[in-house]
Amino acid sequence: MPQENRLILKFADAPGYTSDIECYLRNDGYEALKKALAFAPKALPDGKSMSGPEQIREEVKASGLRGRGGAGFSCGLKWSFVDRKSGKPIYLICNADESEPGTFKDRQILHKDPHQMIEGMIISCYANDVKLAYIYIRGEFPEGARILNRALAEARARNFLGKNILGSGYDLEIHVHRGAGAYICGEETGLIESLEGKRAYPRIKPPYFPAILGLYMCPTIVNNVETLCAVKHIITMGAAGFAKLGTPNNTGTRIVSISGQVRKPGYYEVEVGKATIGELINDFAGGLREGRKLKAIIPGGSSAKVFKAGEKFKLKRKDAEGKEIEVETDVLDLPYDFDSLMAAGTMSGSGAIIVMDDSTDIVEALANISEFYAHESCGQCTPCREGSLWMSKALNRLAHGEGRKEDADYLLRIADNIPGGRTICAFGEACSWPVQSFVRKFKDEFVAKGAEAESRRSASIGAGPRSEMKIAASPRSD
Ligand SMILES: Cc1cc2nc3c(=O)[nH]c(=O)nc-3n(C[C@H](O)[C@H](O)[C@H](O)COP(=O)(O)O)c2cc1C
Ligand code: SF4
Repeated sequence: MPQENRLILKFADAPGYTSDIECYLRNDGYEALKKALAFAPKALPDGKSMSGPEQIREEVKASGLRGRGGAGFSCGLKWSFVDRKSGKPIYLICNADESEPGTFKDRQILHKDPHQMIEGMIISCYANDVKLAYIYIRGEFPEGARILNRALAEARARNFLGKNILGSGYDLEIHVHRGAGAYICGEETGLIESLEGKRAYPRIKPPYFPAILGLYMCPTIVNNVETLCAVKHIITMGAAGFAKLGTPNNTGTRIVSISGQVRKPGYYEVEVGKATIGELINDFAGGLREGRKLKAIIPGGSSAKVFKAGEKFKLKRKDAEGKEIEVETDVLDLPYDFDSLMAAGTMSGSGAIIVMDDSTDIVEALANISEFYAHESCGQCTPCREGSLWMSKALNRLAHGEGRKEDADYLLRIADNIPGGRTICAFGEACSWPVQSFVRKFKDEFVAKGAEAESRRSASIGAGPRSEMKIAASPRSD
């Protein structure tokens, strides 16, 4: 797409570009690592000095890079929380679980340009004094794991990994660890448990903040694939160069996965906040099919709160004189960035937009999403374990014509009682947000489905005793 600004995917789809190290080296591969390793200690005005790794950490902080895995937390700030005084080893884990429904960006990097991620990872490890790092890849990506293992062997053979990397005195080893295919393994503390060989039960924070008590109870950094790639570009371009891309507080580029009822579903890399949701859907993804109207948009992976077509939001903006004003903004005119989506009550999450047109049965769509969350809850917390299942059952019966008018309120009552600190991890929010937003924004459709089912049932009760028996055996009984 001409409107794209490909930084991370610059070469990924170029003709003849392969995942081989030779190809990567021909395109300035591992030059950023050489630059990072060559950062000399810098004298500070107070007479102290700043080491090369410290300077890299400062660059990453100054670049404004925000994590691309979901929460959009500042990468530099996350690194600054690492306990460097514990005397324990510091670990870094690349989160390549990519399991949020609708998201398919990390796998493009892993398959098409694995060395870019490995280079970003080595630089990040060097910056944080990490000697042992892991790539946690989801079980359903066997090809990705094979490509990564080959790429790591190539990097080792060239001394970009291993002992005394490029004569710098720095040692690092990276291992690939394959998950067994569970969504909760993408949650960083569940991932850490899984990497330790246990069931992926998330840990409670506090005290188990990975930066302090992570892998093997040692300080640990968990970063997404795309975040680690961005680190390489920050070193190449400098923090200021990177921050020129995107918009203030939303710097760099972002790979957006667009799926659903659009003509050209796919992944598109854009400067953060430079394209609106409408542009992404209509210009990049080709818009809706002929004769269809927009109904709903999930903006950040299936756990993000849904938008209804035509929704308006009040966004804070600066006028020509720099005064803060509120501007009414249609959902399609929202800039696709972390802050605008948060101001609109949702999130850009994993950067995955799912588009639904007017042919979508909204109850069925939510039933589908909720079934996924009910299946994936790890089961440690009662509100999440029971609530996700109750919501899924209620939605299934509604979608299958067995519901009740009150189901909409019943669903909201459950969904409102899961999030807000009642669960160990943010999965509680992830399973409730779709229900809260779908039911509140499309309530008439949920009520109508329940009412329709009730009137069909009362009509069939009048038809004789056999029908009554059928109702007694309806799934509501559980
Ligand atoms: C239920 C759940 C699933 C998650 N799945 C993923 C995932 O598949 N990939 C990912 O990078 N982050 C995922 N995250 C976010 C991670 O916990 C973590 O914040 C992220 O990997 C940090 O990387 P970043 O700071 O570079 O974004 C998930 C979070 C939750 C609560
Ligand atoms: S919120 Fe859900 S997924 Fe997270 S720990 Fe509790 S039960 Fe498990």
